[in-house]
Amino acid sequence: MSLKDKIDTERLPEHIAIIMDGNGRWARQRSRPRVFGHRHGVTSVRETAEAAAELGVKYLTLYAFSTENWSRPRAEVTALMKLLVQTIHKETKTLHDNNIRLLAVGNLENLPKVTLDELQDAIKETAHHDRMSMILALSYSSRWEITRAIQEMTKDAKQGKLDPDQVNENLISEYLTTKGIPDPELLIRTSGEYRISNFLLWQIAYAELYFTPKFWPDFRKEDLYEAIIDFQKRERRFGKTSEQIVK
Ligand code: FPP
Repeated sequence: MSLKDKIDTERLPEHIAIIMDGNGRWARQRSRPRVFGHRHGVTSVRETAEAAAELGVKYLTLYAFSTENWSRPRAEVTALMKLLVQTIHKETKTLHDNNIRLLAVGNLENLPKVTLDELQDAIKETAHHDRMSMILALSYSSRWEITRAIQEMTKDAKQGKLDPDQVNENLISEYLTTKGIPDPELLIRTSGEYRISNFLLWQIAYAELYFTPKFWPDFRKEDLYEAIIDFQKRERRFGKTSEQIVK
């Protein structure tokens, strides 16, 4: 029985989020520059997106560039932005072939114009696809997102568009950049680090966390299957007792 066959497609996580980590260390192990790892990470992105879409996962969010990543050496930031443009351009066909819609969350205004243009074109071109949504978190951090949401809410309250008494969890979700996207049920982080790194802090309140020692450029379809199989073995109680969970 293959790993894929062990997955119960009736109980898939609807939304999987991934912290793609370890590109730099993967490159260092091969005595190559960090960007070599990022380039190889693109293959993992393609494989993971295909595997998730084939299984029937509806949303896949990838942490591609954090707000904090802007402080990396200038040459690496430039190379990553260039790689993003090339990848989005080249992989739009993969998105079409797999009926995948591209979305992006984050402080997109900070992206170089050419990156933003390429991204917006691909988002527009794939807007009609409905098998799966692939969401790139770019220039994203959760604290930035929550701060921005509070600023927007305060502004709306001042202008009389929002009644402070109406503020509840659903309304807060509406002010986040992930508005309309269900919360991830499974969060995967590669490279053996056990951190969340300012990623989707509000949205992962009840997500199952899965850590693998593999570096991102080595992550393949089988690794996604393993994570989902592990997820399906877990009992998700949402604060209740085992007995209260209807099996
Ligand atoms: C983390 O590894 C990876 C990144 C900051 C960039 C991820 C980008 C890609 C995989 C390429 C393009 C992606 C898309 C979605 C088009 P790291 O550099 O932090 O590795 P390290 O922890 O070993 O240094």
